[in-house]
Amino acid sequence: MASHPIVVGNWKMNLNSKQTGELIMSVKKEASKHSSVSVIVAPSFTYLDSVGKILKGSKVQLAGQNMFWESEGAYTGEISAPMLMESGCSHVIIGHSERRKYLRETDHMIHRKMVQALECGLVPIVCIGETFEQRQQGIKDLVVMQQLQAIFGGLIPTEKQNIVIAYEPIWAVGTGQACDPNEARETIQVLKHALIDMYQEHVVQQNFVALYGGSVDHTTITQYVDGDIINGVLVGGASTRLDSMLGMIRAVDT
Ligand code: PGA
Repeated sequence: MASHPIVVGNWKMNLNSKQTGELIMSVKKEASKHSSVSVIVAPSFTYLDSVGKILKGSKVQLAGQNMFWESEGAYTGEISAPMLMESGCSHVIIGHSERRKYLRETDHMIHRKMVQALECGLVPIVCIGETFEQRQQGIKDLVVMQQLQAIFGGLIPTEKQNIVIAYEPIWAVGTGQACDPNEARETIQVLKHALIDMYQEHVVQQNFVALYGGSVDHTTITQYVDGDIINGVLVGGASTRLDSMLGMIRAVDT
């Protein structure tokens, strides 16, 4: 999938209505000056509709932070892919490590969500990453490959189905301790090779892009985004801060 540098802002359970509104207006304005950067924001569910309206006609894209694997039904508290799309979402984050940790999401659940997102026409941003202990044990590559195989097993993407893989080492998320850019690149290469084993190389090139996520900000973003192996970043904390979010958009404009 041909790709501009991608900056995804995952605002998590942060920012109230006023703060979300103020930030999105500034992001929209800044993004309009940098047409070669793909900017995607994931606000809280309750603000998707209003942010979606603000973004109408702009190049900034909207993402859900999660979704359910069925499109409707008796699933209290859940939100469906068609609902996200009705609010203007084009993307959805799936399998974030915080959901794996606090909500016990499994690779199987993430697989089902991803399949549903693709069927409905959303681009899934699928998060993959190892814990600090797994890294210490020297099993990082094995762990990320196992996650990848469990999530993507059985899926054959059609030509039009784009998928974003976000390599997010769990120990780097929200800790201020980012992964070394070269190490992130190596792990993403491992993931890309595993994908090439599952699909053909041209499918991987056509349908997949890769992001790095974990303690990135405007001062470090260019160390990661190289337009080749790492196509962009998935950012939490820094994306909720105006200077940092705008700084990241500017930094990757080539
Ligand atoms: P962080 O979060 O940038 O605050 O580390 C990244 C993420 O959760 O995607």
